[in-house]
Amino acid sequence: MKVCVVGSGGREHALAVVLARTADVVVTPGNPGIPGSVDTPPEDIDADLYVIGPEQPLVDGLADRLRDAGKLVFGPGADGAELEGSKAFMKEVVAAAGVPTARYAAFDDPDEAIAFLDTLPDGPEGGYVIKTDGLAAGKGVLVTTDRAEAEADIREKLAGESFGDAGRRVVIEERMIGPELTVLAVCDGQRAVALAPSQDYKRVGDGDAGPNTGGMGCYSPVPAADAAVVQAVLDDFVTPTLAELRRRGIDYRGVLYAGLMLTAEGPKLVEYNVRFGDPETQVILPRLTSDLAQLLAEAAAGELRSEPTYTDDACVAVACAAEGYPTSTRTGDVIEGLDRLDDLDGVEVLFAGVAAGDEPGTLVTAGGRVLYVCGTAPDIEGARALAYQGVARISWPGMHHRSDIAANPT
Ligand code: AMP
Ligand code: GLY
Repeated sequence: MKVCVVGSGGREHALAVVLARTADVVVTPGNPGIPGSVDTPPEDIDADLYVIGPEQPLVDGLADRLRDAGKLVFGPGADGAELEGSKAFMKEVVAAAGVPTARYAAFDDPDEAIAFLDTLPDGPEGGYVIKTDGLAAGKGVLVTTDRAEAEADIREKLAGESFGDAGRRVVIEERMIGPELTVLAVCDGQRAVALAPSQDYKRVGDGDAGPNTGGMGCYSPVPAADAAVVQAVLDDFVTPTLAELRRRGIDYRGVLYAGLMLTAEGPKLVEYNVRFGDPETQVILPRLTSDLAQLLAEAAAGELRSEPTYTDDACVAVACAAEGYPTSTRTGDVIEGLDRLDDLDGVEVLFAGVAAGDEPGTLVTAGGRVLYVCGTAPDIEGARALAYQGVARISWPGMHHRSDIAANPT
């Protein structure tokens, strides 16, 4: 089988590595760190299966265009991708499906938005969550207990100052408290199977300090998420959502990414994404022992039959970011030390924001999250130690990473 992976980040690198166990893989546009990267647009590549990584091409209808050309595609059409493209749409579907989530409302008027803050609990157990309605690469969310900060954020977002048009509508939610968990469900329009649970670290700094990012690190499995929790996510979140989408005429074939918070009242939905998580994919897929190409092809065809299986090993990924990320990103710094990893068994580097350097064979930084160092070992502690040994051998000016990924697994 020939598989075309669309995208250019660490998630697509992980997809390419694991799909290549059983398929021929090309990645478009990929990056100079991902073998099999080509410049050709996906529409001009002849493949048996197309796997679309990022949300933007899904929201823009790439899956529809490929399907219209008779191709087998893993990834929802533009209608289903609205679940991620508009948080207001997502909340509406979730409410209709009866999925547990935070109380919320959507606004485009700042005074009405600020008045809604009065209806939310304040104090240390309360707080305010302000989200851009549109896509903001994981950075459009403010979680705060500070009322003045919440008001200022609403005004900036709605004025288009902080996120352009994506912020001209905001969703305001009550703040939920608890550990987070990601469950990715592979869906064929009707049925779904869950991939192994993982946990992501969204804030840029140790101890969850600083602003939200696309994700600074991850581990899988998650000790607190046993088979019963995963089954409950399928039964109470994914299956009713697929049914609600079908009721609206949406045939959802792709990953439904359920970002959950394990609150005192039980799991609640934080967000849906319409694609594999990044960096969740980097820790889930390497543990897979079953055939990924087969699983995704079945889902794309609407005929999901296989169940994914995993090794008992744990995997930990640490994101190494460029100077300034997530506020700004300096590019063009030469990445050193990649040749010093060969003797570290169980360590793999997955590349994201990189470009070819002037010297042949070198890579320079070209994006916020530059690369992920992944460690695989029989337990989380061992996997974490390996990942950080790898991180210690890599450097560029301004490189930063969290040092507490998987330090206290839930
Ligand atoms: P989102 O882009 O919706 O996933 O939000 C990014 C991050 O903000 C989440 O992973 C949570 O850490 C946090 N977050 C979002 N919504 C809430 C909420 N209602 N309560 C508490 N934290 C939240
Ligand atoms: N790691 C969060 C995401 O993929 O949205």
